[in-house]
Amino acid sequence: AVAGQRVSTGSLPGWDDVERLVDEAYRYGLASVEGDIATYIPRLAQVDPELFGVSVAEVDGAVHTAGDADVAFSIQSISKAFVYALVCQELGHELVRERVGVNNTGLAFNSVVAIELNDGHPMNPMVNAGAIATTALVPAASAEERWARIQDGLSAFAGRRLELDGEVYTSEADTNQRNRAIGTLLQAYGRIDQDPLAAVDVYTRQCSLLVTAADLAVMGATLADGGVNPVTGDRVVSAEVARDTLAVLASTGLYERSGEWLFEIGLPGKSGVAGGIVTVSPGKGGIGVFSPRLDAAGNSVRGQRATRYLARALGLDVF
Ligand code: DON
Repeated sequence: AVAGQRVSTGSLPGWDDVERLVDEAYRYGLASVEGDIATYIPRLAQVDPELFGVSVAEVDGAVHTAGDADVAFSIQSISKAFVYALVCQELGHELVRERVGVNNTGLAFNSVVAIELNDGHPMNPMVNAGAIATTALVPAASAEERWARIQDGLSAFAGRRLELDGEVYTSEADTNQRNRAIGTLLQAYGRIDQDPLAAVDVYTRQCSLLVTAADLAVMGATLADGGVNPVTGDRVVSAEVARDTLAVLASTGLYERSGEWLFEIGLPGKSGVAGGIVTVSPGKGGIGVFSPRLDAAGNSVRGQRATRYLARALGLDVF
């Protein structure tokens, strides 16, 4: 059973206890074989569904791991959180709030209906429409420069150079008619200034960056640490931007399941369709998990179990 503690504590337990609890969370996650791997991006259908990694990074830079925490997978939608932070840093709270929004759609991450229902507004940066609009806002003279800034920025969050998975990128680029339609629809509503197909292409590349569960934990810990990467010591974004990003994740990070996630776990998080989830405990640290089997909303089943276990056992819940 999940550890009983549900209330927040002021700090994490000592090193030995965190190590033990990460192992326990891994075993708790491993007990589930529910869910299905994503197949709409053909390359993702080829991954080993048994892979499972868990990691916790503390704001003092300590990193704990269990299982396949060093196996690389594509970051997918988790990139949206960090590109959003980079754009907030460049353009500020007000402009991004007005252009991209901060409210949940209540609909799936790739919904076209949500755009139509809201006068073409993308609604929030975590659904595909808002993420494509956000990527288009990265200040740059060309698509190549926009991509370079995103790759550099996400690498700074991770504390190491993140590389593109060319096979995942090609596989998605060949099959992403829906995202291209979303980008073009935003253009029709005057909600995107750049060439929408070029923005979708950069978005597809950002989704194809390779990370590990341990990378996600460090990326989360950077937001937990007010924008400073606790492993490298580099400031990636301001404390205000880290705070704004976490507020958006709390309401939209798990799409139409965001309310359930907040109710069960009590922390901002972001999922990706390759099976990663990053979760942030402000002032304490980040949790990174990876397991490819997903629930109906596209969220890793084992990853959610391990995160729930850790949120309670480590006393992370912000409420
Ligand atoms: O645009 C897409 O459909 C993918 N590149 C990302 C979707 C995703 O990760 C949804 N999350 N659970």
